[in-house]
Formats: sequence, structure tokens, C-alpha cells
Amino acid sequence: MTEVLDVDDAHLEDSIHRAALIIKNGGTAVFPTETVYGLGADAFNERACKKIFEAKNRPADNPLIVHISNFNMLDDVAYIDEDLLDKMKNVWPSPLTLLLKKKNKVPGIVTSDLDTVCVRFPDNKIASKLIDEAGPIAAPSANLATKPSIVDSVTAIKELNNRVDVILNAGRVKYGVESTIIDCTEKPYEMLRPGAFSLEDTISILGDVHASEYVGGYTESKIALTPGLKYRHYAPSKKLFLIENKEKFREFISSDNSRDFLTLCSYDNAEYAKYDKIILGKDIYEVAHNLFYDFRLLDNSDKEYGVIQSFDEKGIGLAVMNRIRKASFTAVKDKENIDKIDKVLNE
Ligand code: TXA
Ligand code: MG
Repeated sequence: MTEVLDVDDAHLEDSIHRAALIIKNGGTAVFPTETVYGLGADAFNERACKKIFEAKNRPADNPLIVHISNFNMLDDVAYIDEDLLDKMKNVWPSPLTLLLKKKNKVPGIVTSDLDTVCVRFPDNKIASKLIDEAGPIAAPSANLATKPSIVDSVTAIKELNNRVDVILNAGRVKYGVESTIIDCTEKPYEMLRPGAFSLEDTISILGDVHASEYVGGYTESKIALTPGLKYRHYAPSKKLFLIENKEKFREFISSDNSRDFLTLCSYDNAEYAKYDKIILGKDIYEVAHNLFYDFRLLDNSDKEYGVIQSFDEKGIGLAVMNRIRKASFTAVKDKENIDKIDKVLNE
């Protein structure tokens, strides 16, 4: 049985206390962060962390992020050089996750036996209080493996009821895309996953940061160094087509060919859609906030396919495009997008 606990002002302290107790006793908890919901357990408890993989059907070679709420906790988890530590004192809490050399106290199950660990210091009141009380929490995003990340508690309850011990019922999260991950084990640092913390801000704080080949979202890693990146993520169950070219997108959604498609578009493009549409948002922050939520609306809709436009890859837009490409059935080039749509329609 899963306990679902409210976190409004009247219940906050009791609920956090209860969830922290469950974690300290080796249980699992779904909790909000500023990016997406996490599914966590005591980061130093091997058996508890095993339950995370079971609850999500997550492959054992896809490591977890360790969440902390102060710098003393960092000391137990990973090695960090003085210079980087000084910088992070001005940056954390925030959705910027660092890949660092791990300390022995972190069990191998958390890091899939790698000698590195992802460390994240979330900027969310509920997450911070929970970690303060329970200690470092190992947590991936709370979705079942291969599903889009969960950004609201209704979906969390629907998807994870009876799979975890407790769910904190905290409504919608702030950003809607996951944290940015930077590999700091070698210089120059490398961005492994774009996220809620922009590349521009990361560079202005950390200096030279290279964007890895995975940042665009076109390629999937096959190498052991970044195990998590080899899995398909974030995808709706229905086929989603990305049309990167703006004119071709408008042409398609205003044509009869889009009859069986749910259109996912910005406010500006909504007027072109001949059939059913979902407006992702007015600006890129709204689009990020709604993206995973709307992928699930697509799955629950009566349309057979989805079609989505591209967005400017500035700021959080880089993460948005990475997630869209990874979620898309086809994300190669404009012409091929259209050809693939034609092929599916003519099957
Ligand atoms: O915003 C977020 O980061 C959310 C919230 C819950 O904090 N968490 C999240 O976790 O997105 P997850 O597990 O869905 O994504 C973490 C990614 C995975 O692709 C994983 O493989 C990768 O980070 N990762 C974790 N530890 C790693 C390591 N030691 N080496 C390489 N990649 C690692
Ligand atoms: Mg995930």
C-alpha cells in the first residue's frame, strides 16, 4: 500500500517527517523537485536503492542521482576540487547536477558500479526539508522506465500507486524538464544532458563547458561512460513526429493529412491547426513546463499520432529540443520527417 501525503501548510511538517522516517527505515518515496518528481531512497542503503530499480523497471546499468541539501552531505558522497566547490556555493541549490568522482560510502548499486556519481542539490522547499531529515537521497525521475518524466502529482499517484511506500502530493513542479548534467571529472567540463539550468548560465559560472554530442538529442550513447544516455527516454507511447522546418510544420498541420494527428504547438502556430491541437505555451518556459504533461495528454487522446514543432535552442530551449528529439519517432532532417509521415500514413 502506498501512503499519499498532502504537503499544504497544515500538513507539511507531519508529511515530511513521515516520509523521512519511511526513507530512513529503508523505504521508497516519491517527492517533488523544482524540475520533475523523483523516486528516492536512502542513498547509503543498498537494499533500499534496489527497490528504486524494481519500482521503475529500471535497468541496473542506469545509475541514479544522489540528492543533497547542504555541503556537508556533499562531503560524504563525492570528491570536489576547491575551486569548483567555491563556485557551487554561489550556484546551489539549483537544477545543475555535477558528475564527480564518488566516495566509498555510496554503494555500487547507486552508480551502476562506476567510480563516478551524479550529485544534485535541488531548489525546492519540500525536497530540501525531506533530505535535511532523511539524509542524502538517491533518486531518478519518478516515471516508469521509458515513460516521460512525471511533472504532476496526479500522474505520480496514477503511475506509482502500490509501487512505492509514500508519495508526496505536491501538484505541478516548477520547470518541467530535468536538471542539467555536467561531467566535472575532467577539464574541459562536458555537458552530458541539457536541462533546466541553461548552457549559457553554466558557461558563465563554470567557464569553458563543452556540449557533448548527445546534447542535440539526435544521437544515443552506446558507451559505458554515460550509461543513462543509451536508453530511449521521455517518449510518449504514440508515435510523435517532429517537423523542424517552420513552414513545413504550418503546411502540414493546416492540411487534411493531419487528420489523425494531435498537433502540439506554440500559441503562435495554433491558428494554423486544422484539427485538434494542444498549445504548449506562449513562451519557452511555458513550453518546458507543459511538455511532458502534454506528451501524456497525447497518449490519452483519441488521435493516433502526434506532430510537434521545433523551438529556438536558446536557454531552456536547448533542453526542450533535446527532449522533443528523443521523444520523436523520427528526428533526422526536415525532408525525412515529411517522408516518414507520408510513409506511416500510406501504410
Ligand atoms: O532533475 C533531475 O535531474 C531529476 C530529479 C528527480 O532530480 N532526476 C533525473 O534522474 O532526471 P534520471 O535518473 O532520470 O536521470 C539521470 C541521468 C540518467 O541518464 C543517468 O544515466 C545519468 O544521469 N547518470 C547518473 N549517474 C551517472 C554516472 N555516474 N555516470 C553517467 N551518467 C550518470
Ligand atoms: Mg529519467
